[in-house]
Amino acid sequence: MAFELLSYITQFQPFSITMQAMRILAIDTGSSSGGLAALEDKRLLGHVFTNDRDDYSSRFFRELDALTAAIGLSVGDFDAYAVVAGPGSFTGLRVGLTAVKAWAEVHRKPIASVSGLHAVAAQVAGPDGFVAAVMDGRRGQVFGAVFRKTGERLEWVGEEVVMNPAEFVAEVTARIGAVSGKHRIVFASPAPELIREAVASSPFRDSIVEKVSSDLAPWVGKLAFDVADERELVDALSLDANYVRRSDAESYWKDTAAPRAKTVITIRHLTSEDARDISLLEPLCPEAPRWGEAGYRQIGSNGIEGWAAVNRGTLTGFVVVRVAADEMEILNLMVNPSARRQKIASRLIAAAYAHAEKAGVKRIYLEVRESNAKARAFYLAQGFEEHGRRKNYYAEPAEDALTLGKKLNSDNTR
Ligand SMILES: CC(C)(COP(=O)(O)OP(=O)(O)OC[C@H]1O[C@@H](n2cnc3c(N)ncnc32)[C@H](O)[C@@H]1OP(=O)(O)O)[C@@H](O)C(=O)NCCC(=O)NCCS
Repeated sequence: MAFELLSYITQFQPFSITMQAMRILAIDTGSSSGGLAALEDKRLLGHVFTNDRDDYSSRFFRELDALTAAIGLSVGDFDAYAVVAGPGSFTGLRVGLTAVKAWAEVHRKPIASVSGLHAVAAQVAGPDGFVAAVMDGRRGQVFGAVFRKTGERLEWVGEEVVMNPAEFVAEVTARIGAVSGKHRIVFASPAPELIREAVASSPFRDSIVEKVSSDLAPWVGKLAFDVADERELVDALSLDANYVRRSDAESYWKDTAAPRAKTVITIRHLTSEDARDISLLEPLCPEAPRWGEAGYRQIGSNGIEGWAAVNRGTLTGFVVVRVAADEMEILNLMVNPSARRQKIASRLIAAAYAHAEKAGVKRIYLEVRESNAKARAFYLAQGFEEHGRRKNYYAEPAEDALTLGKKLNSDNTR
């Protein structure tokens, strides 16, 4: 960690951290209980958690004073701040985010933004497998996320969602269904009663439903060291809340059909190592051709290239193409349903256009199922024209393919 921290410092010029041991102050204001924890190199220096019925924001600064006095440190003595950026109550989250932004500005220190669901999942010990983390989303809904657990490492499988418990269990089935037979899954929640019934009436009925602590701050602090190791600390300006659902105030003003939080997408080259993550996305996009994990292992060979859209380490979408002479075929394109209509496919295809232009491609073409209205609308918006039909081209179910094409010109890469 000391080595990682030093290498991080050289990257993060505006912040001057000179100590070898890293101290993190972690806060959770997203839940009704809330809490604070101070850590030094993953070791807990002190923490405050009072399961009071008062709104946490009204106790927060009092408890901060108590904690800093007890451990003899002031807020400026920490090297980074960790905060639950969501999901949770709008007002509660804002209190924590505003406090951390102010500290980061004043003391010129970075911030680790951590999901409360990640802190729930981190508490599950035991063999490798999957963890479905659940928190109370109110109004009969749950906030949920799925992780693949390997030792202490938790890898996101898809994004956070808010839905009713039965829908969430169905979503878990879709995300890990293909492999669940061989793997164990634990449903973890500070309030396991929220999900127990839905699990009991699902294919996961024999799975463990584990009660974990609602005292998340120490776990948030621990995860923040991983965020630092991954070089994903942010500054005050970049920190954003992830409400998963819009605040009530916003929802009354806007339609409620698109309750997604802002996602931060990075586009990067695909490699054959992404094959497994892509195969987990496939069941969520049944309209698209299925290649399976083995098919995607061909990326990087046989002229197949691709790009991934990644949101905080999670593969959210991808495109794969093949260039032959002066033509490029779009072989497949998918975006996680929970992240659609955010121009992710547009950004993926822009990466493909840029590649095509460099390769001297003059024409791009693809096939799409006739019934795939979303993809047809997307390609039409991209300037493709439908100019052919292949009878019974697809199986399961049998269906005609429409062939689409467009000429490539320099406007495409802008
Ligand atoms: C098709 C698909 C990749 C589009 O992904 P996306 O990230 O939502 O697309 P974008 O946000 O970049 O959409 C850009 C534009 O395309 C059009 N478009 C995309 N999806 C649309 C839809 N469902 N209905 C109507 N128009 C749509 C719109 O003009 C949109 O712009 P707007 O949101 O400002 O109106 C996505 O729906 C998907 O993964 N579908 C399942 C897999 C699939 O069918 N793949 C195609 C295999 S050939």
